[in-house]
Amino acid sequence: MERTVIIVKPDGMEKNLAAAVLERFAKAGLRLVGCKMVQLDEKVLRDHYAHHADKPFFPELVSYMRSCPVLVCILEGDNVINRVRDLAGPTDSKLALKGTIRGDMGEDKSRNVIHASDSPESAQAEIRRFFKPEEVF
Ligand code: CMP
Repeated sequence: MERTVIIVKPDGMEKNLAAAVLERFAKAGLRLVGCKMVQLDEKVLRDHYAHHADKPFFPELVSYMRSCPVLVCILEGDNVINRVRDLAGPTDSKLALKGTIRGDMGEDKSRNVIHASDSPESAQAEIRRFFKPEEVF
């Protein structure tokens, strides 16, 4: 059984899409084993997006992710990392097919509704970054 982290980003929160996003994962049979609403700070975001630190969009990305509280969740299931990424669609919402979360609810590369872990190593690091052990069930 595998685990992954998803974050409902500020555009998803502002459009009140958190429940609709979680419903898609529930309907796919994925189990919620951790979930909380948090205001992310600059330190945790610099850590989370360290692999993008040299990209031109990095300052905008960090400031965007701090613009309002977000919902951070852990989902569990067989092959959950790939399944969640398939349900989300590609990073650029404009390229995402209808029927995917980003294709139906996103706008572009930045306002793309959710973040999802991209590998087992990232998922482990993100679980530790965003959750205390007692917040995971
Ligand atoms: P996320 O899954 O949170 O991981 C890195 C984020 O960087 C990605 O989603 C996008 O929101 C953002 N991103 C990637 N490419 C661009 C880009 N060209 N312009 C703005 N944001 C981007």
